[in-house]
Amino acid sequence: MSVLHAYETMSYGPAPESPADAVAWLDRHGRRFGLFIGGAWSEATSGELFPSLDPSSGDSLAEISQGSEADVDRAVDAARAALPAWGELGGHRRSRYLYAIARQVQKHSRLLAVLESMDNGKPIRETRDIDVPLVARHFYHHAGWAQLLEEEFPGQEAVGVCGQIIPWNFPLLMLAWKIAPALACGNTVVLKPAEYTSLTALAMAEICQEVGLPEGVVNIVTGDGRTGDALVRHPDVDKIAFTGSTEVGRLIRRATAGSGKKLSLELGGKSPFIVFDDADIDSAIEGVVDAIWFNQGQVCCAGSRLLVQESIAEAFYAKLRRRMETLRVGHPLDKAIDIGAIVAPVQLERIGQLVEEGKAEGAVCHQPSWAVPQEGWFYPPTLFTGVEPSSSLAQVEIFGPVMVAMTFRTPSEAVALANDTRYGLAASVWSENVNLALDIAPQLAAGVVWINSTNLFDAAAGFGGYRESGFGREGGREGLGEYLRSAVTVNPPSGSPDHDPEPTPSDLGIVGGGLGASGIDRTAKMYIGGKQQRPDGGNSYPVRGHDGVHLGDAGWGNRKDIRNAVEAARKGAAWSKTTGHLRAQILYYLAENLDARAGEFEARLHALTGGDGRAEVQASIERLFYWAAWADKHDGAVHGVPMRNVTLAMPEPWGILAVCCPDEQPLLGFLSLVAPALAMGNRVIAVPSPLYPLAATDLYQVLETSDVPGGALNIVTGDRESLAPTLAQHDEVACLWYFGTGEGVEAVERESAGNLKRTWAHAGALDATKPHGPELLKQATQTKNIWVPYGD
Ligand code: NAI
Repeated sequence: MSVLHAYETMSYGPAPESPADAVAWLDRHGRRFGLFIGGAWSEATSGELFPSLDPSSGDSLAEISQGSEADVDRAVDAARAALPAWGELGGHRRSRYLYAIARQVQKHSRLLAVLESMDNGKPIRETRDIDVPLVARHFYHHAGWAQLLEEEFPGQEAVGVCGQIIPWNFPLLMLAWKIAPALACGNTVVLKPAEYTSLTALAMAEICQEVGLPEGVVNIVTGDGRTGDALVRHPDVDKIAFTGSTEVGRLIRRATAGSGKKLSLELGGKSPFIVFDDADIDSAIEGVVDAIWFNQGQVCCAGSRLLVQESIAEAFYAKLRRRMETLRVGHPLDKAIDIGAIVAPVQLERIGQLVEEGKAEGAVCHQPSWAVPQEGWFYPPTLFTGVEPSSSLAQVEIFGPVMVAMTFRTPSEAVALANDTRYGLAASVWSENVNLALDIAPQLAAGVVWINSTNLFDAAAGFGGYRESGFGREGGREGLGEYLRSAVTVNPPSGSPDHDPEPTPSDLGIVGGGLGASGIDRTAKMYIGGKQQRPDGGNSYPVRGHDGVHLGDAGWGNRKDIRNAVEAARKGAAWSKTTGHLRAQILYYLAENLDARAGEFEARLHALTGGDGRAEVQASIERLFYWAAWADKHDGAVHGVPMRNVTLAMPEPWGILAVCCPDEQPLLGFLSLVAPALAMGNRVIAVPSPLYPLAATDLYQVLETSDVPGGALNIVTGDRESLAPTLAQHDEVACLWYFGTGEGVEAVERESAGNLKRTWAHAGALDATKPHGPELLKQATQTKNIWVPYGD
């Protein structure tokens, strides 16, 4: 046999990682686990157990407890009891605990990696080299944040007891992403692992004991969706952090509506992987392997839609098929395999079903010539070509090793295809032309963009989605914000009148006109697309001053007016692309023109509210200056990540942002919210105070003389409580702020579940005595993290 022959026929021998330590650990626990509550192990009250299965064989690894409502109660009580002391420990002491956890993770890294592979089915190469090191990194990084918290986030407080629900695809890593920032900020947690993969969370409970973490700071309650649901609905939980399917995310949004719970959702995706004709093809091929065959494709940000420039498509597919042939699917503990087992039969079935649907839709299915192991739950790497952009293959998250390919001709076609999804989690762009890559990145509706790379994660870089991929970020400075609270309201709202939830113009005393105090009929219209427009229904309602005098009428906006405003805002998209400098100029100009008419506004405000009109107008002018100042200064950050990359954390406007304003200080309250939204480049639909809309409608002429472009700011007057849910339901409204009643908050949060828009809703009035700069900058933008190759 020649050397060449040996080389060409050489095949991999088995390279198994020993399961001995993990088996010993399981045996030590009698292969049966209780719940970790208040620093100790206890039986579930239900006595119900379910098996955790090894996906490579189907064998049971251990029995896990099904946590009941009563168990969730106990865990929340323990977390609540631990909260004050944990907060009072201060950042440095908490930092020491997080550091100790990171050290223990490293010391137990082999056990954790093997256990994770056995329980989830993912290759040991991945758990050993990616999951576990990232877990340690996350705790180290957040040990640092605990230390720096007071200095870097002054005036912000821990949210409280956090309910955290995680999925099965990165069990330990998702636990770290949830627990580390929560603890750093002084919160306590009740975490529910996914029912398929509880084991490493239970091992982490032991680590918490080893480092002497105070009892009740971390509680682990295992169980299925019922346990998760009990946690979501528990009245004494202050925040829910969820990673999982968009479907359950939507349920959770509805279940928590109006409860006062803070919420972050990290949901599904159908992320584009865009290959331009000038890409380094070999790198891009390896990129595809990492994008869709990493973790068996069970990755929320998997690059699962391959978009290839038409001129290279056939050659690219051919090369990719050759590469697929050389991938190895096999036992997760074999160090030389690329793809392990699918987590559960139900997931395997779902993948198979979606693949069959794809074939029926007429797409061409490519799979390697070899067969996957018959024992256990395996699926081969799969590529579909000839996929229609609207087909279910291209739109539905398959959550398996299935890539679907489409072609494009021009960069703008690539962007259109990439954004043709309801999700917006991640995207990869492959091109050797830095100009092209950096031109495409800002156009992608995705929270993470990897340039010439894919599936990179780090504790210093924020991760999270746009659109139906959820809201909130995990990791980095952005992620900490999800576990902190800063007060922006005065509660209860001062002087807010009793409000009929759905009044009609006649309930409010009048239909039609009426002469104002001046003796001239003035019915304020809507302000839509830069023009004053009559309300669609033709109705208006009277606006009375503090002494009951009829001061004029305002339009009674309805659903159609909101639709018109959204359409105008869509057409006003140029505002989101202007420079911060220009937006600053326009806000200064607004302030200048308001100042020129200060006397008129002072009189109006006094007539409306009886308050000090002069003080409110001066504060409003100052507020406009404040936000003009910020318009060109909210710069984002460059995160240093321990790879050959930097991450550009770019604050981007939401797009169309709706603002429902409080009644208090009707001009200052209005401008304190509208100005930051505009300053950050959002097109705004504002519903002014329903009691005092004239404070906002008087601004029309100021807006017209201040060069505010049509569609940038649209004002719809009327009943805030019925307009807010309409705005919440509208799919094109990407974010909604609401200040009003408790029922209003509930309605807004519930109705926002449709497109899972970010809401920032308050039962109460804005405390407009302060600008709340950091909080409003955060609320007015979403961060896109762009990973750019950098250095060596
Ligand atoms: P899932 O969303 O049902 O499960 C995620 C977590 O939520 C688990 O801990 C589960 O017990 C819990 N859960 C389920 N129902 C709940 C409820 N009503 N209230 C509170 N918690 C609840 O995901 P599943 O069923 O395991 O997978 C189905 C599909 O979801 C996958 O095929 C995939 O498309 C997607 N998925 C996406 C993930 C992501 O990271 N984006 C992770 C897991 C699944």
